[in-house]
Amino acid sequence: MLKSVIISTGSYLPKKIVTNDDLSKIVETSDEWISSRTGIKQRHISEEKETTSYMAAEAAKKAISKSGLTSRDIDLIIVATTTPDSTFPATACKVQDAIGAKNAAAFDLQAVCSGFLYGLSVADSMIKGGSFKNILIIGADKMSSVIDWKDRSTCVLFGDGAGAFIISSTDKDSSESGIISSRIQADGSLGKILCTSGGTGTTQTAGHIQMEGREVFKHAVQKMTSSMEDLLKTHNLTHADIDWIVPHQANIRIIELIAKKMNLPQDKIIAAIDKHANTSAASIPLAIDTAEAKFKKGDKILLTAAGGGFTWGSVLLVW
Ligand code: ACO
Repeated sequence: MLKSVIISTGSYLPKKIVTNDDLSKIVETSDEWISSRTGIKQRHISEEKETTSYMAAEAAKKAISKSGLTSRDIDLIIVATTTPDSTFPATACKVQDAIGAKNAAAFDLQAVCSGFLYGLSVADSMIKGGSFKNILIIGADKMSSVIDWKDRSTCVLFGDGAGAFIISSTDKDSSESGIISSRIQADGSLGKILCTSGGTGTTQTAGHIQMEGREVFKHAVQKMTSSMEDLLKTHNLTHADIDWIVPHQANIRIIELIAKKMNLPQDKIIAAIDKHANTSAASIPLAIDTAEAKFKKGDKILLTAAGGGFTWGSVLLVW
């Protein structure tokens, strides 16, 4: 039976770092308020040339160089993003050109902060279906392009970046590493709790992030936890079987609550929120890239995310 194995990862963060103290010079806020409510200390913010496709291509190049493959071996590119360079062509097509992946089909997928896990789930199905061998999945977002820099309640939360996985098909025994399964869900009736004020169909601009913070907090915790519980149940696993959880990096208090509800010590939950802030679709692969040295072959890892839509999902894998 075919299965997907993660053969490499890569990431890209813009050089420019904006600290909480820097933000306190443009809006009425403080390092103390931001750190204590969110765990964020700094974020990377793109310069003009660091578009979503540029960051995505840089992350992809790193993943390809670590993989032992060449760009011509990639047969599909999926870019999860909410902040594409333009309405079309797809960011994935720009990446295909930038990295010379001449043999790859390419498309974008939009599920906001859950986008990378939606992408991983789709890619896993396409590998298991037998049509593709080497898929590049990238989460890339330039959240600074949809931030209202005068709104202190949202501008402190986000950052820019990109992260990539290459997954390849294998028919080896199922006890070895690979993606075991995934679960993705959505509830469009919650769209208004996290959205932008614009879009090409309304204002012809992307608009700015609007958020009901407390509602988002509550649904993010509930939905990430329940989707992980569902996956464990499906595979007859308990919390004790899990070595690591890599949650979407939205807020350290959300991450701490997830650890508590999943009955895992805090040091089993990967957190990079202090350095990256919330990079939306990029947050999980970026967090994994900071933590990869901790993972041992055979470790069972749960990835989980929630975001605008409302969308959420989890992926269970063996490293
Ligand atoms: N600096 C200083 N004060 C601020 C700031 C700021 N940056 N932002 C808001 N405040 C003020 C508010 O104006 C309010 O003042 P008031 O009491 O005088 O009206 C006060 O702080 C409290 O505001 P609340 O919104 O009630 O603060 P809360 O404790 O709920 O924390 C937060 C806000 C951090 C946004 C929280 O609700 C949260 O983390 N929600 C989750 C949202 C999230 O993570 N979004 C990311 C995208 S979604 C995702 O990725 C899943």
